[in-house]
Amino acid sequence: MFRINENYLKLGGSYLFSTVGRKAREFQAQHPEVEVISLGIGDVTEPLCPAVIKALHEAVEEMGHAESFHGYAPDLGYVWLRECIAKNDYAARGARITPDEIFVSDGAKSDAGAIQELFSLDARIAVCDPVYPVYVDSNVMAGRTGAFDAETGRYGGVLYMPCRAENGFSPSLPEEAPDVIYLCYPNNPTGMGISKEKLQNWVDYANSSGAVILYDAAYEAYITGDLPHSIYECDGAESCAIELRSFSKNAGFTGTRLGFTVIPKALVRGGVSLHDLWARRHGTRYNGAPYIVQKAGMAVYSEEGKAQIREQIGIYQKNARLIREGLSGAGYTVYGGVDAPYIWLKTPGNMSSWDFFDLLLNQAGVVGTPGSGFGPSGEGYFRLTAFGSPANTEKAVKRIQSL
Ligand code: MLT
Repeated sequence: MFRINENYLKLGGSYLFSTVGRKAREFQAQHPEVEVISLGIGDVTEPLCPAVIKALHEAVEEMGHAESFHGYAPDLGYVWLRECIAKNDYAARGARITPDEIFVSDGAKSDAGAIQELFSLDARIAVCDPVYPVYVDSNVMAGRTGAFDAETGRYGGVLYMPCRAENGFSPSLPEEAPDVIYLCYPNNPTGMGISKEKLQNWVDYANSSGAVILYDAAYEAYITGDLPHSIYECDGAESCAIELRSFSKNAGFTGTRLGFTVIPKALVRGGVSLHDLWARRHGTRYNGAPYIVQKAGMAVYSEEGKAQIREQIGIYQKNARLIREGLSGAGYTVYGGVDAPYIWLKTPGNMSSWDFFDLLLNQAGVVGTPGSGFGPSGEGYFRLTAFGSPANTEKAVKRIQSL
């Protein structure tokens, strides 16, 4: 008999955002007269800023001439981009990350899914619950679905760390240390940030237990308060943490694809450098993000680029405030949305997350994301994104208010 990877059969029927998209399309087909507003998947709506567009045009032009044409990009990314990232995202924040510890990629989602390849199949994985589904699904695809194995004394599978209003959406450190801990701050989906002190606790915990933290900082550009933008702002993070970063949410690259992963050389487990393993993996599986896209990424760090993307982020932050204030004024209990582009609300009257999804779609023509799709502790919650256009965001809030 033909043998497929049966781990795939243990996944939910479809990826969360595919299900949400399908339901919205079905509703729209049945109700063509309704102007459906999507505040579901966190996809940006502002166009790429002028500095990025200019860089793209120039790079495309270069590709048309033999003397400035570029073929395969270097495995780890062009050195000019990695130097720029090290300077702007790390040195400027007091973090000691060198360009050769930065791996440029086609986005944080790809890296978030692939990074688990570095760990043994019986590694015990911990995730916050609710959680960005990619962390869990990629581990299930790899086969980390088992329970405690008395013979080996090891765990397989994924440990959920509940994050609900009762614990301020901030999990306590697990009593028994996992091998790998996924943390995402500012958080998707709850929209909550983490203080430097709390993040330092995680770093100390990982260093003393030998765990590795996979830190997803895709939403750091939305921080308004005095919170860490990178885990490497914490002492000792270089010896226990990998950081994932994205150009999608800060510079609108969701359709252009660019991100990077940082693996410090000081991160060694079982006598093996995780940096070397990832470099080996990158070399084998990856031929680099396109030259033109890396050039566009450089433009994000130019003075004009910085000013232009700041303005865009400001637009989304204003949307977040509008949703937060508009819904709490209408009696909803809302969380997040201050340091992140996501608003996490309690469903009214203890409705299930999917029932509220249906209600919102059918009666307000607004698409959000059911909290339970992010994990068991998301049941009874609902996520709205601030990435819609200002006009649609305002319309959606008014419609929800008048339900
Ligand atoms: C989300 O809506 O959670 C994100 O857009 C998904 C992603 O970044 O892949």
